Amino acid sequence: MFPTVRPRRLRRTPPLREAVAETRLDPARLVLPVFVVPGEGVVEPIGSMPGHARLSADRVVELAREAAVRGVGGMIFFGIPEQKDELGSSAWDPTGPVPAAVAAVAEAVPSLVRWADVCLCEYTSHGHCGPLVGETVDNDAALPLLARTALAYAEAGADIVAPSDMMDGRVGALRAGLDEAGRPEVAICSYAVKYASAYYGPFRDAADSVPAFGDRRSYQMDYRNSREARREVALDIDEGADMVMVKPAGPYLDVIHDLRPRVDVPLVAYQVSGEMAMIEAAATRGWIDRERVITESLTGIFRAGADIVLTYFAVEVAELLQEV
Ligand code: PBG
Ligand code: ZN
Repeated sequence: MFPTVRPRRLRRTPPLREAVAETRLDPARLVLPVFVVPGEGVVEPIGSMPGHARLSADRVVELAREAAVRGVGGMIFFGIPEQKDELGSSAWDPTGPVPAAVAAVAEAVPSLVRWADVCLCEYTSHGHCGPLVGETVDNDAALPLLARTALAYAEAGADIVAPSDMMDGRVGALRAGLDEAGRPEVAICSYAVKYASAYYGPFRDAADSVPAFGDRRSYQMDYRNSREARREVALDIDEGADMVMVKPAGPYLDVIHDLRPRVDVPLVAYQVSGEMAMIEAAATRGWIDRERVITESLTGIFRAGADIVLTYFAVEVAELLQEV
């Protein structure tokens, strides 16, 4: 006898499938990464990231307006400074590109949540995420510099500061610095689980942050480890993180899924530049259906357990969702 249970019954029509869908994309949960440069009227297309450009703060505002109209939840800013030095001192320059973009968006498009990435690698002459002692990044010397950088972004009007450097103790250092300066309302989203990944290639091109020597494996995580992710998350929450992030996203869905029931703060995932690049490259060759793969890749990240996803496709996906 044929089984009486037929799962196909609930897949029969589009409204039925809609009714039983377990995961839905929501533009309010998407955050767009943006590269900011000094100046005015600057739009420099990024070769390795089709459809994306380095923008001056005034151009960021235009993009912010479009994102807000589409219902995108927020933007995260990365800065490319005029000059780099050993310490990365342009990172905390209150007149630098990130504070300028944060302030401009706060004024023109206040409904958009403003995230500021906090790291030194875009600002150091050697491209590492903190000051060096010999060829090693000096963890404890990086902490006050990172705290100072986060405070500069908070004072410009950032809602969330997001340290991506992977120094031990940086969440505590940022929280103390913000609180002492009278900024207790500014939230911290730590890149708690950031793997040393080859998927960051296009970003480093865009941000001009390829390390001058060596790699980041002495501070970013080893991708063979997932139990270690639980420890990183527990430490950061203990130090005061309001949200925690897993990065990259697509190749680490198991990590997101493992953390979900263990973490009660919002869980964020970053669909990084290399994940985008692979989709764009295959689509250019006609090997995949671009829009469908974008939608499927993001749905997978939410299905795994993410609450918020940083993605270069944020505005485009929001637009697609409005059309449906
Ligand atoms: C800086 C930083 C990186 C990314 C976000 N913040 C690059 C890196 O660690 O080298 C990567 C984002 C992407 O690839 O889209 N610490
Ligand atoms: Zn860095």
